[in-house]
Amino acid sequence: MNTITTFTMIKPDAVRAGHIGAILDDIIKAGFKLVAIKYMQLNQDTAGIFYQVHKERPFFKDLVTFMSSGPIVAAVLEKENAVEDFRKLIGATDPSKAEPGTIRAKYASSIQENAVHGSDSNENADIEASFFFSGLERHPDFL
Ligand code: PPS
Repeated sequence: MNTITTFTMIKPDAVRAGHIGAILDDIIKAGFKLVAIKYMQLNQDTAGIFYQVHKERPFFKDLVTFMSSGPIVAAVLEKENAVEDFRKLIGATDPSKAEPGTIRAKYASSIQENAVHGSDSNENADIEASFFFSGLERHPDFL
């Protein structure tokens, strides 16, 4: 079986717009199992650490400010081929290029306010999930 774990955040724009329930519903209906979830707010420091891989990019400061601007939902998801299938489910980073029916096509408004994050590799899924969740906070299958 291919990788079974990915990490997601429902970003502040989608939380503010009241889309948490609809997005989780889409994720679960697409066959992902929720194995860890929390509602919380990042600050500038923690958002900066999470996105440090992008620290040299011109949008880094805006991204960190946006991601710490309100609550998020962080979650670990399980499914065969999770990383790739989840990236397909959410659609392109820029919602104007996202396939119809994808989460970003439905709920995102711009390349910054793009509703959800999805890990881009198996390695990053593990790093990102571990940044937000301890083993005790995950479904026992993971212990
Ligand atoms: S990806 O998904 O990593 O391939 O996309 P990428 O284009 O490399 O973007 C990485 C994250 O940066 C966000 N982003 C931006 N934020 C603000 N302004 C601009 N212009 C911008 N461009 C990209 C993008 O939403 C990605 O966030 P995450 O949380 O990783 O999806």
